[in-house]
Amino acid sequence: MAEERQMKKEDELTLSLPRERGWRVPDLYLFQQFWCPSIFIKGVNILQKQFEAKDSDIIVASFPKSGTTWLKAIAFAIVNRQYFSIHNHPLLTSNPHQLVPFVELMHFPDTHFPTTEPRLFGTHIPFPSLSESITECDSKIIYICRNPFDTFISAWDYFDKIKDHSLSALTMDEAFEMYCNGIIEFGPWWSHMLGYWNESIVRPNKVLFLKYEDLKENVNFCVKRVAEFLGFPFTQEEEGNGVVESIIKLCSFEKMKGLEVNKSGMLFKVLENKHFFRKGEIGDWVNYFSPSMTEKLSKMVEEKLSGSGLSFEIMHS
Ligand code: A3P
Repeated sequence: MAEERQMKKEDELTLSLPRERGWRVPDLYLFQQFWCPSIFIKGVNILQKQFEAKDSDIIVASFPKSGTTWLKAIAFAIVNRQYFSIHNHPLLTSNPHQLVPFVELMHFPDTHFPTTEPRLFGTHIPFPSLSESITECDSKIIYICRNPFDTFISAWDYFDKIKDHSLSALTMDEAFEMYCNGIIEFGPWWSHMLGYWNESIVRPNKVLFLKYEDLKENVNFCVKRVAEFLGFPFTQEEEGNGVVESIIKLCSFEKMKGLEVNKSGMLFKVLENKHFFRKGEIGDWVNYFSPSMTEKLSKMVEEKLSGSGLSFEIMHS
């Protein structure tokens, strides 16, 4: 009874929030200063009230479509490398989102929480809304972001594929307008990035800030950096034995996209794993953007990130 009353109160609170049409769900609500589907509002509330972080926890944080799946795979492979051979590895038969579940989906029936330590979790929740339990303990956060141009194209394509059947498709112009107004799950994208960016400057031992483009350009360096940051550095012997390379290969786009689990498997019985793997390239946006879109987003990136020290190298069409 008390639980029902609490749920009713939360539903009423949600309905009182500013609301916009979503990309894949009918409604997004402006909750704690970010745009959120109601299912995640519930998840964030539960997280903030109930989650008990451990010092050894590792959180893979990201804005959607920035390389979350890739970084989850890399982090899982790094910290569990002593338990699994590369030929009989959980990543060969499970999608990274199953192995590294989102904390905001704790209440989902099919979410299996890690039982061994370090526990690895994912999250799209902006930094200020993470539970204090996570931000105040010694757990580590690795954040991946991606240039806003490719992120937009990846999101537009992905959300269109997984949207509710009842929803009409968003044209690229409509989605772009929403994106530029910050209206996208967990957006605005600029405050999402800056929240983690600023924290990574203030607490470099707590938050490691990574860019998808840096991983693509020098994955060997980035994998070693992540391993060191997480407290699982590679020994000289491991490096000599090609352990770093084998992790890179296991987590590569080509390898992961080709696995049966990622071709035909499902997440939560509703999401097809194959949609997490599209092109995996830098710069695909040039095939979609008009000159006016390029101009508008370039200006926005400059304005929104101005003075922060965060920037992206954007090749212009
Ligand atoms: P594209 O749509 O540009 O291809 P997320 O994991 O945050 O949902 O991000 C998805 C993006 O990362 C997609 O980009 C997807 O193809 C790409 N991706 C997924 N796995 C990858 C991997 N192992 N290596 C590189 N990119 C990957």
